[in-house]
Amino acid sequence: MKLLGLSFGRKMANTEVLIKEALMGAEQWGIEAGFIRVTDLHIEPCSGCEACAHGLFGGGSGRCVLKDDFPFLDEQLMECDGLIVGSPVFVLTPTGLFKTVCDRIGPSHDMAFRMRAKEIGIAKGKEKEKLPDERSFKRRIGGLISVGGSINPEWLSLGLPLMNLFTFSPHIEVVDQMELIGANHYDNVVQNENAMKRARLLGHHVSEAMVNPGESAWMGDEPGMCPVCHSNLLKITNKNPVECALCGIHGEMKVDGQRISVTFTEEEKKRSRLTLAGKMEHVNEIDRNIKIKQARMEREGADLPGKLEKYKGYKEIQMKPNPT
Ligand SMILES: Cc1cc2nc3c(=O)[nH]c(=O)nc-3n(C[C@H](O)[C@H](O)[C@H](O)COP(=O)(O)O)c2cc1C
Repeated sequence: MKLLGLSFGRKMANTEVLIKEALMGAEQWGIEAGFIRVTDLHIEPCSGCEACAHGLFGGGSGRCVLKDDFPFLDEQLMECDGLIVGSPVFVLTPTGLFKTVCDRIGPSHDMAFRMRAKEIGIAKGKEKEKLPDERSFKRRIGGLISVGGSINPEWLSLGLPLMNLFTFSPHIEVVDQMELIGANHYDNVVQNENAMKRARLLGHHVSEAMVNPGESAWMGDEPGMCPVCHSNLLKITNKNPVECALCGIHGEMKVDGQRISVTFTEEEKKRSRLTLAGKMEHVNEIDRNIKIKQARMEREGADLPGKLEKYKGYKEIQMKPNPT
């Protein structure tokens, strides 16, 4: 079994050292560990061309058309049975590069998109190499590490929750997560015994879930308000229901003095976008949406170029060539 550590932090700094400590814990379980510093790779931002999604919905592999180091990262992702991903917090969230990689794996590695693609591709008689990578469908376990410089957790508020953006689409089951506050350039987490112990424990938790087949139990320190993703990131308006911002499911919030609880029905839990059923709901919604848009284009499509004409180049400010 293979466990991949992915760091979006600086070389040999806090995030990297925590991930490596977790990987060392996993090695005690006989798991083969590998580490990639994503900041060493050249990863282009997603251009939004949707070639991956169009390819998948045509029964293809979902491969990206951009030319960079992504295929190397992808091969390691496909190969692993477990993933520990760590990112520093930059301006309250994981880093921009982290989000860039999330965009590159979001639609293209969506487990339900790939399942639908496989069905369509087989029905079209495509060869195996032209279908989505078969390794996309295996069970994978994840652990998340968020590292912020502030000693005030309020400055890391979107760090851990948003790290789920990496794991939900390829359907990696997160079993544990940790947050390190107060990490900066002036020392190194290796001197923080408690944090190092927690990272090693995370490595053990991920390993335990990897070697035990079946549904994995949550092993994080806090259960979180959402019983599916275990985050506290809720969308609240002035009336019930509230929505888990990560799962997209709705629950009933109750306030009893200082205590706040949110109840999610079993039906809602099953439709979280972290579940396969939730992902399928999205696939069906895309199917419906495409049909609606295609019908509209058939009715009104002839007018489209004319309607767009006045926006072409409108007030676009051109960059002057650099004089040096
Ligand atoms: C551009 C930038 C923005 C940052 N924003 C935050 C922040 O919002 N909250 C925080 O806690 N730390 C912030 N930090 C500090 C980093 O999270 C901290 O230095 C962390 O230790 C870096 O991880 P590393 O040591 O693994 O590279 C920021 C650092 C940079 C460079």
